[in-house]
Amino acid sequence: MSITATEPTAITANPVLRAIADRRSVRGYSPKPITQDQLDALLAAAVQSPSAMNRQPWHFSVVQNPAILSRINAEVSKAMNKDVGDVFHGAPCCVFLSCEPDARWSRLDCGIATENIAIAAQGLGLGSVILGMPEAAFTGPNGGELNAMLKFPPTYKFAVAIAVGVPAVTKEAHPLLADRIDYID
Ligand SMILES: Cc1cc2nc3c(=O)[nH]c(=O)nc-3n(C[C@H](O)[C@H](O)[C@H](O)COP(=O)(O)O)c2cc1C
Repeated sequence: MSITATEPTAITANPVLRAIADRRSVRGYSPKPITQDQLDALLAAAVQSPSAMNRQPWHFSVVQNPAILSRINAEVSKAMNKDVGDVFHGAPCCVFLSCEPDARWSRLDCGIATENIAIAAQGLGLGSVILGMPEAAFTGPNGGELNAMLKFPPTYKFAVAIAVGVPAVTKEAHPLLADRIDYID
C-alpha cells in the first residue's frame, strides 16, 4: 500500500483535504494586497487552533507595511553576514508568531497555528510560505528593537512566520515519503 501511487478517493471531493493536498510553499507573489476580510479569516483560523492545555501561548504580529518587511529583511542579511535576498518572496503580508520559547509545547502550538493559517490561505485561493529565515533578524544585533517594533509580548521570542498573498508562481508537490509510515498490526 502506498500513499504515493494514487490519490485516496476521500481527498478528491473533500474541500479540507483538497486544500491540504494542494497547498505549496509559494515563493512568488502578486503585489496585490489581500483583503481585510481574508486577513480576518486567516487570523480566526490561527486563534481557533488547538494548544496544549488550551494555553494559547502565541502572539501574532501582522505586517503589511513594505518598509517594515524590508527592514526585517535587511536585518536578516546583516545578522547572517550575507545578502539573503527577499526572505518574504515578494509577499504583501507576513504574520510573525512569537511565544515564550522555553514554555513546554509553546513552539509546537505556534507551528500548529501556522499550519492552520496555511490551510486557510489555500482554502481562500491564496498562497503562503512558512518562514524560519526571519528568525536571524530577531536574534541579531537589533533583535530587541524588532521585538518591540512587532509588539512581541515581554519575554516572547520569534517562533516562526508565514507570508501570505496572491500566488504568482506554481510549484510541484514535494515527494511523499511513504516509507515514513508504518501500519502496526
Ligand atoms: C518550520 C519551517 C520553516 C521554513 N522556513 C522556510 C524559509 O525560511 N524560507 C522558505 O522559503 N521556505 C521555508 N519553509 C518551507 C519549506 O521549505 C517547505 O515546506 C518544504 O520545502 C516543502 O515544500 P511544500 O511546503 O511546498 O510542500 C519552511 C517550512 C517550515 C515548516
